[in-house]
Amino acid sequence: MDDVKTSSAVPGDRTPDTPREPMVVIDGVNKHFGDLHVLRDINLTVGRGEVVVVLGPSGSGKSTLCRAINRLETIESGTISIDGKQLPEEGKPLAQLRADVGMVFQSFNLFAHKTIRDNVTLGPIKVRKKSKSEADQQATQLLERVGVEAQADKYPAQLSGGQQQRVAIARSLAMGPKVMLFDEPTSALDPEMVNEVLDVMVGLAKEGMTMIVVTHEMGFARKAADRVVFMADGQIVEVGTPQEFFTSPKSERAKDFLGKILTH
Ligand SMILES: Nc1ncnc2c1ncn2[C@@H]1O[C@H](COP(=O)(O)OP(=O)(O)OP(=O)(O)O)[C@@H](O)[C@H]1O
Ligand SMILES: [Mg+2]
Repeated sequence: MDDVKTSSAVPGDRTPDTPREPMVVIDGVNKHFGDLHVLRDINLTVGRGEVVVVLGPSGSGKSTLCRAINRLETIESGTISIDGKQLPEEGKPLAQLRADVGMVFQSFNLFAHKTIRDNVTLGPIKVRKKSKSEADQQATQLLERVGVEAQADKYPAQLSGGQQQRVAIARSLAMGPKVMLFDEPTSALDPEMVNEVLDVMVGLAKEGMTMIVVTHEMGFARKAADRVVFMADGQIVEVGTPQEFFTSPKSERAKDFLGKILTH
């Protein structure tokens, strides 16, 4: 698992007070969609090896924030940097930086006409310039790790949603990302498949991967998050440990949100 950055964080040592080197720095970020001010002066630093869960009502800007971190969305003001490097505007430096940021979406986004193995080896061969045999070997390891090695020669449509999402995680990890972004990775899954994906994510968190996770899975937030960021109307309204956030939310918006999600 050479390519998966395990960082200096000690597995299991997830005390929020441990000072961490900044990995993702979001500084004064603003974005509009027409008249809609979708990101309002967002400031957030995610430390190396830290797991941040982003919560908030629908339309609060969570996906837009994730997409901005990967520069799938442009921003109008402010800066975003990854491991000390500001996001480049375009071209090769952007492709390089994007390769450092893995992203797993709600829909699995696998290449439908490629086998599971080829889905995982494509990026390492094309972008990371690995040899086919090296990429194959790594793919085998990663598919084993997410528990789908038996499916390597199948096509995405032949796999369950949970299996496809685990392949999507393996494919991202194959690039050796410094940060993993997850945007509701389990929302499209049947309930019985949610845990198999969350278990892989909890494993990654324990290994010290830096993760930003948008999810409605409160169990994951409680178990794996170092901090919870609560967004509403394009703003970060509250940031705290899962313990703080779930037991004593400060803002009315957060109380209202928790009241709704915890009772349905
Ligand atoms: N490409 C776009 N063009 C115009 N408006 C957009 C676009 N993408 C998102 N929006 C709007 O921006 C706001 C924030 O959207 P975003 O998808 O970031 O919210 P979210 O917090 O991820 O919501 P959800 O929980 O439903 O996924 C919403 O009002 C949405 O309608
Ligand atoms: Mg969203």
